[in-house]
Amino acid sequence: MEYNKHDLYELCVQSPKDLVPLLRAIHGENPVVLGEDFAGTAAVSHLWVERGGCSAVAVDFDEETLARRGEHERIVKHLCDVREVSDPCDLLFVGNFSIGYLHTRRELIEYLRHCRARLEASGGVFVCDTYGGESAYSLGGVHRAHPMAGGKLCRYTWEQHAADPTTGFVTNLIHFRVERAGVIEFELEDAFVYEWRLWSIPELRDAMEDAGFSETQVYTKLADAMDDEGNAYVMPVEDGEEELDDSYIVLVAARV
Ligand SMILES: C[S@@+](CC[C@H](N)C(=O)[O-])C[C@H]1O[C@@H](n2cnc3c(N)ncnc32)[C@H](O)[C@@H]1O
Repeated sequence: MEYNKHDLYELCVQSPKDLVPLLRAIHGENPVVLGEDFAGTAAVSHLWVERGGCSAVAVDFDEETLARRGEHERIVKHLCDVREVSDPCDLLFVGNFSIGYLHTRRELIEYLRHCRARLEASGGVFVCDTYGGESAYSLGGVHRAHPMAGGKLCRYTWEQHAADPTTGFVTNLIHFRVERAGVIEFELEDAFVYEWRLWSIPELRDAMEDAGFSETQVYTKLADAMDDEGNAYVMPVEDGEEELDDSYIVLVAARV
């Protein structure tokens, strides 16, 4: 049996249902237009527009990936480099460490200036994720298992294959294996290969300020509270040493 790697990625790697309320809470007002850069299959955009009146602009330069979920009347999909799109938005999100595609500080600042311009009219917020802490440059795999329909299990490995603390360059791989009752049905090694610059939190914050953002904050990826309507409540991290784990994934926000 064959599986599509994007379907397995959405199952194992992404969690838009947790992310979308968190992004709205970080924005803090009532963002209507989401920009999703390095969007992949635009899974976050598709959930975002489920709220009445909301729309999204998703950008990715990989045709097969961006086309995977088809069209939606309230999502504009641009098949191009993220730096070529100027559609305004209220909140601009870059997920799954894709900010690491900007390899040099100059590229990073140019891109952030470009994002700021898209957010200027609405006084909006830019948010990206990054990882850090004691295992940031460790090699090896993290394994997880996700149940699938038909009593199957998708085993997913996130492998840091190479990491150079002197340059910040990392190579990360994603592997999938689908099993039923312990028998391997499908295996895909190196389903995704990423060559990233791993930006630290202060490097991102400095670059955001240099790009003209007025204020930056750091958030963990867990909401502080959720209400019955599915709204999240978050506070920025104030005391990093106390609030962050030894190894962490964070969201870094920059406000126009
Ligand atoms: C790590 S995936 C992230 C997918 C999704 N945002 C997520 O959170 O899971 C990175 C995506 O960025 C796209 N990409 C990389 N560089 C890009 C660029 N300069 N412009 C547009 N898309 C780019 C790739 O095609 C890929 O689909």
